[in-house]
Amino acid sequence: MKNFCKNFLPLLLMAVSATPASSQGLKDVYKDCFMVGVSVNQRNVTNPEQQALIKQEFNSITCENDMKPEPTEPSEGNFNWRNADRIADFCRANGIKLRGHCLMWHSQIGKWMTDDNPTKEVFYQRMRNHIHTVVNRYKDIVYAWDVVNEAITDDRNAEDPYRQSVMYKLCGDEFIAKAFQYAREADPKALLFYNDYNECDPVKSRRIHDMVKKMKEAGIPIDGIGMQGHYNIYGPTEKEIDDAISLYKTVVSHIHVTELDIRVNEEMGGQLRFSREGVNVTDSVEQHLADQYARAFRVFSKHKDVVDCVTFWNLSDRDSWLGAANYPLPFDTNYKPKRAYQYIHDMKAPLWDMPKRPARPARQQNRQNAQQRPPFNPAQVFPEEEGVKEDFVPSELNQPGQQYPQVNSQGYARFRIEAPQAQEVSVSLGLGGRGGTKLHKTYDGSWVGTTEGPMDEGFHYYHANIDGGTFNDPGACNFYGSTRWESGIEIPAHDKDFYAMRQDVPHGNVQQVLFASPSTNSVRRAFVYTPPSYDKKKKEKYPVLYLQHGWGEDETAWSNQGHANLIMDNLIADGKIKPFIIVMTYGMTNGVRFGGLREFTAQEFETVLVDELIPYIDSHFRTKAKKESRAMAGLSMGGFETKLITLRRPEVFAYYGLLSGGQYAPSDIKDKNQVKMIFQSCGSKENPDGIKQSVEALKAAGFNAHGYISEGTAHEFLTWRRSLYQMAQLLFK
Ligand code: XIL
Repeated sequence: MKNFCKNFLPLLLMAVSATPASSQGLKDVYKDCFMVGVSVNQRNVTNPEQQALIKQEFNSITCENDMKPEPTEPSEGNFNWRNADRIADFCRANGIKLRGHCLMWHSQIGKWMTDDNPTKEVFYQRMRNHIHTVVNRYKDIVYAWDVVNEAITDDRNAEDPYRQSVMYKLCGDEFIAKAFQYAREADPKALLFYNDYNECDPVKSRRIHDMVKKMKEAGIPIDGIGMQGHYNIYGPTEKEIDDAISLYKTVVSHIHVTELDIRVNEEMGGQLRFSREGVNVTDSVEQHLADQYARAFRVFSKHKDVVDCVTFWNLSDRDSWLGAANYPLPFDTNYKPKRAYQYIHDMKAPLWDMPKRPARPARQQNRQNAQQRPPFNPAQVFPEEEGVKEDFVPSELNQPGQQYPQVNSQGYARFRIEAPQAQEVSVSLGLGGRGGTKLHKTYDGSWVGTTEGPMDEGFHYYHANIDGGTFNDPGACNFYGSTRWESGIEIPAHDKDFYAMRQDVPHGNVQQVLFASPSTNSVRRAFVYTPPSYDKKKKEKYPVLYLQHGWGEDETAWSNQGHANLIMDNLIADGKIKPFIIVMTYGMTNGVRFGGLREFTAQEFETVLVDELIPYIDSHFRTKAKKESRAMAGLSMGGFETKLITLRRPEVFAYYGLLSGGQYAPSDIKDKNQVKMIFQSCGSKENPDGIKQSVEALKAAGFNAHGYISEGTAHEFLTWRRSLYQMAQLLFK
């Protein structure tokens, strides 16, 4: 059947046109030349129509991202198979072959592999373990692996033919040899490929050829060369493709076209530069695209003796990594075949000559490209994922008018950060233990991503990491935490009404006061919440709660992220508490470094609080200036301070509250009558048993103690909002 395509083309064409298009997919038309494959994402293999299209047209599949080094092993020894398994199962169930992509690559590889400057030996151990584990898992279904991806430089003038990647700098080209050896050890049957782009460029193809030849001569098991095939309508020419294949043929007997797509503009290669041209596809552009596909398939067919698989990079323009504006694939954004499809399917000859590259200075072109940026289209950028509801709305803590970050009704968070020149962008928010959520670059130069799972309800701090630096998300408001103003996001809680800003409720006031602090030789700031009645009933005096924030935070935390004032307004309006004042000042916590807590005495803060702030408050506000009307509470490190100060100054406070901030033991308190009530709480994801046991022990010892566990929350502000809500109802009774 070797010469089938050439000799029987006319016959085949007749046969094709006589058969309804639907029964002959590309895989059938080319069955005597090579397999026809497609790279897929999760949606492609779960959406029934897309599944049907894949089954109709293709007999080989590549995971677009899900088998790459980082997605499969995001941290050392922790493998993540969910997505790759789903695609592998789809292949198994439908008799479709799976191409493995890819084992070693400088991109999409876990930082852990090289970030700690490992020795060569340690790096090889990591590499071997990765390759063995991944290859072994998919041995039954993966027939070919891209073992090393993109190791040759694009710099035509470089003396060194290799890309100066971290791996190369550490090991030289030995890492390439090792990768192939490990892959062969793991699966002696799979075909092993070296894969690269710009592979028809005469300089680069020579370098690829030379490298593979050298390796093979040294006994390294390389079976094939993968030609990525990221082309455009201006090139490569049919001759350039022909030349490259002819050259590669001299060293390998298997060639796969691994990532075919054809842009309708001048961009090409394995890097995204996001050209905006081709948004309005004219009839002639449509024809040029069809013609270039026709040329490519003509030359691939000519070399069917070595070309045994041709894979499109993505199922349709809607899925394309390049964005639909590049118009790159045979199927359009509605999964309907374009003219290019007909040309490939019917093996038509190109109608016109290849178009001339438009002569335009690069700078002008870039400017034009920027102007032609298509509007950001979330539907195109965020593929539907099984189990994730597409009801995302902007987070309520966004800066005015900002669309991102977003949250959905299940608690997933979604990000979009514009950083067109960045190489790597992630956000620190994500499922635990994974270092946050990695964003990926999309067609308009912005970076996007959705958390892998739902986040806990309530408020979360986060930041962005852009090329190794820490930045805030420009879409989100900032909140002081971790000793800096961090981005904040709010996952709506099911019980959010208790801290809602309600229209039917009179509101109190949070005012800033500046008080003298001789002990620190400074003027210090506090925020004072006065209840709605404070300005009306001019004679009434109020009890006071001194309420502390946690480590990394400051006096702004309780009213900003804590909504302490709104919680109070609502409790008062609902008749659940009698009004009191809350005073919030900085607890001087942030000079303490991790590990230094043991030496932290809160002594200086005790002086500021008890000897300076309290006298100021009692002389400037209508307070009940006596111990029985005074409470101190704090969250986390503020709880630690509360415990130290209340025990050292029993004459000052009568009510104590520790919110995720430790516990009192009965033996801590010398005189049982010094305290009227002890409140202790934490989130159910913290140490609820510790709280429960301690409260039981306090009660057994005769204290008026109350415990509270916030369901489904951790060491975060929803725990403390809820705790304040509970505690307020127990104070000053
Ligand atoms: C691309 C994917 O299509 C994108 O979704 C991802 O963000 C980046 O990688 N060369 C390769 C492929 O070998 O793995 C790349 O895939 C495209 C370039």
